[in-house]
Amino acid sequence: MKPNPSISARALAHVQALDSYVPGKQPQDTGWIKLNTNENPYPPSPDVKKAIALISGDSMRKYPSPISAGLREKLAHHYGLPGPDWAFVGNGSDEILNLLMRVFCDSEKSGGYMVPSYSLYPVLLSIQNSEPVKVRYDESMVFPTDEVVNCGANIFFLTSPNAPTGVAIPTDTIRDLASRFPGIIVVDEAYGSFADEDAIGLIQEFPSLCVTRTFSKSHSLAGMRIGCLMGNPEMIELLDKVRDSYNVNLVSQVAGLAAISDTSYYEGLIEDIKRTRDQYIRECRARGWFTYPSQANYIFTKPVNGAGEIGVEVAKSLFDFLLTRKILVRYFGSDTLTDSFLRISVGSENEMLILSEAIDQWLKNA
Ligand SMILES: Cc1ncc(COP(=O)(O)O)c(C=O)c1O
Repeated sequence: MKPNPSISARALAHVQALDSYVPGKQPQDTGWIKLNTNENPYPPSPDVKKAIALISGDSMRKYPSPISAGLREKLAHHYGLPGPDWAFVGNGSDEILNLLMRVFCDSEKSGGYMVPSYSLYPVLLSIQNSEPVKVRYDESMVFPTDEVVNCGANIFFLTSPNAPTGVAIPTDTIRDLASRFPGIIVVDEAYGSFADEDAIGLIQEFPSLCVTRTFSKSHSLAGMRIGCLMGNPEMIELLDKVRDSYNVNLVSQVAGLAAISDTSYYEGLIEDIKRTRDQYIRECRARGWFTYPSQANYIFTKPVNGAGEIGVEVAKSLFDFLLTRKILVRYFGSDTLTDSFLRISVGSENEMLILSEAIDQWLKNA
């Protein structure tokens, strides 16, 4: 769009210069096998639909709990924290990441993150007009603790398991970092439910460390937009100062409560997804494709074509071929650490079978 001088010129200079976040494709027509934004292939607990159906018109007429009180209480209990003042609920964990940036980052206070990791962090930092502090992984994807300790950021965002690789940061490494890093540490555990370990146990040990989680992936509720943060009450108080008064709507609060209460249903789902993931990693490796050891609900793999080649063109060629089969995966072309890979969300067993057959076809053609 051609900028209108009476609108754009009045915007803050850093907003004019902003590159907005590019989410994965969300096709609105049917027939897609959607393996591009790490949604859960299975439906939420039946209790969620039942609880939503029971919401009365009278409760819809009124504002919801401003602090999502029921959910804070349940989360504290669920994660073994001393009380509800240790939990915060947001309109998706993206909102919480945004609020953390608002509290801790501006043109003088910087925010740090790993490359590669979640591509929303730099966008949120630009909105704050804050200088990003980037620390690079190398191909081993071993977390470079000393570099992060010395990076000088006011707040550092760790993604564990990492996106898009699926590689988790061991809890002992996070403990070591937390004991030496002078700023705030946010462990973004959007995929934490699929991992072998997590950092929730460190929250009470390190007041400046907090953990974010989401109901979008493990709890099959991406459309409901529910995320949470567990951290020291002082951190929660700061977030409460900057959030919208009613940041989580009534239906989402009800859905989240019903979901977190049905632990056995979700334990089963998560086990199924982990089994499919591990099977698929084995399958990719059997094809001779380098694949990182994922602890998330997606895998990051480097395709090899029928001629034995790897690289940017090969990854793009498979991505495009799958598109013609209405199979959506994700390609991250902006960095040399990621541009020869595809990220594939773990779908149902049947979806993964269809994907494998499509890959066999591509191998014959490529
Ligand atoms: C690493 C990471 N953090 C946070 C989110 C945001 O999740 P949501 O806003 O749906 O809770 C995502 C979503 O893809 C993610 O990959």
